[in-house]
Amino acid sequence: MSQDSKVLDALRTVREPRLRGSIVDLGLVKGVGGVKRGRVSVRIGSLEPTLPTRAQLTHAVTQALRDAGVADDVRVEIDELGPDEQRAVYDVMMGGTPAGARTVPFDDPGNRARVLGINSGKGGVGKSSVTVNIAIALARRGHQVAILDADVYGFSIPKMLGIEEDPISLEDIMIPPVRHGVAVISTGFFVGDEQAVIWRGPMLHKALQQFLVDVWWGDLDYLLVDMPPGTGDVALSMSQYVPRSEVYIVTTPQAAAQRVAQRTAAMAAKVNLPVRGVIENMSWFTGDDGKRYEIFGRGGGAELAERIGVPLLGQVPLVPALREGGDIGLPITVAEPDSEAAQAFVTLADAVHALGPKRIYKSALKIN
Ligand SMILES: Nc1ncnc2c1ncn2[C@@H]1O[C@H](COP(=O)(O)OP(=O)(O)O)[C@@H](O)[C@H]1O
Ligand SMILES: [Mg+2]
Repeated sequence: MSQDSKVLDALRTVREPRLRGSIVDLGLVKGVGGVKRGRVSVRIGSLEPTLPTRAQLTHAVTQALRDAGVADDVRVEIDELGPDEQRAVYDVMMGGTPAGARTVPFDDPGNRARVLGINSGKGGVGKSSVTVNIAIALARRGHQVAILDADVYGFSIPKMLGIEEDPISLEDIMIPPVRHGVAVISTGFFVGDEQAVIWRGPMLHKALQQFLVDVWWGDLDYLLVDMPPGTGDVALSMSQYVPRSEVYIVTTPQAAAQRVAQRTAAMAAKVNLPVRGVIENMSWFTGDDGKRYEIFGRGGGAELAERIGVPLLGQVPLVPALREGGDIGLPITVAEPDSEAAQAFVTLADAVHALGPKRIYKSALKIN
């Protein structure tokens, strides 16, 4: 094998942090300087060579070449791609499919991503907090993970993750920002914070389609969808665009919350989406005295799970650090990974992973 192809082989495992695909396969390796006496230099193109992108790429490239025993002394040069180079990367990404012919990637049987709709009967039960922290826990396990913030009226994912940059546009697609290993697309990127979003059914339907089709999701293992609370238009659209998406229901231990959450299960059944599990949040608070206080009552999650015949996947305690983390954009799974609450999210992520994808049964039911 020639030295150059050894270098390319080693570099194939390196993912561009923003595009989340192989730098070799995406055509981002622009030059390789001859390997001599354990030395090599590599030139890489980037859409947006920010400082963190440079640091991540330099580290990953150096590591990959050292691990492959190609060279120890690695020089990495990162340049911004010019317009023609950008167009070429776009062509590779789209694989020749013209814009009008693109479809929802998650509807393709060859796509391995599991699409997890995180639902709740009402707002404020911790749906977004659960979405963010499970996503991070899955990413930490080495999965490729993204979040689609479909809570159009109450979008909060970018803030919770501390995302300040916008999606990059490349020709007619959007490339989501990535934080803590999780790519995110949110309505929040497209409307101002103070702007009220009044979207009717058809507009919502169209917006969701754009989020699914015109966004570069890469080859995901998991797409978590933060659904708007309650039942309605977005759930119906999701069932049409991604018929194999899975439904998870977040509830508090309160009996009343549990009854509201049941309606979500009824809606899922109506649109033929499988409910896979229940997640109970704010289950208890551990006081300074070490005692557990069940502030919102007990048993709501287990009762709901039993009623709809799915497992209760886990319980997350009420901890002030979780709220603070959400407010300052530093999720608890990142800020305090060893804490009880962070561990609860890891347990949940593992439980979701262990469920595996739902087998698909053909159904005669059609929703129009
Ligand atoms: N387990 C928890 N402990 C403490 N605060 C929590 C917990 N779960 C959620 N919160 C806080 O409660 C509020 C609502 O949570 P959020 O995730 O935004 O709910 P939803 O998306 O269902 O509206 C947020 O301020 C969040 O930080
Ligand atoms: Mg929310």
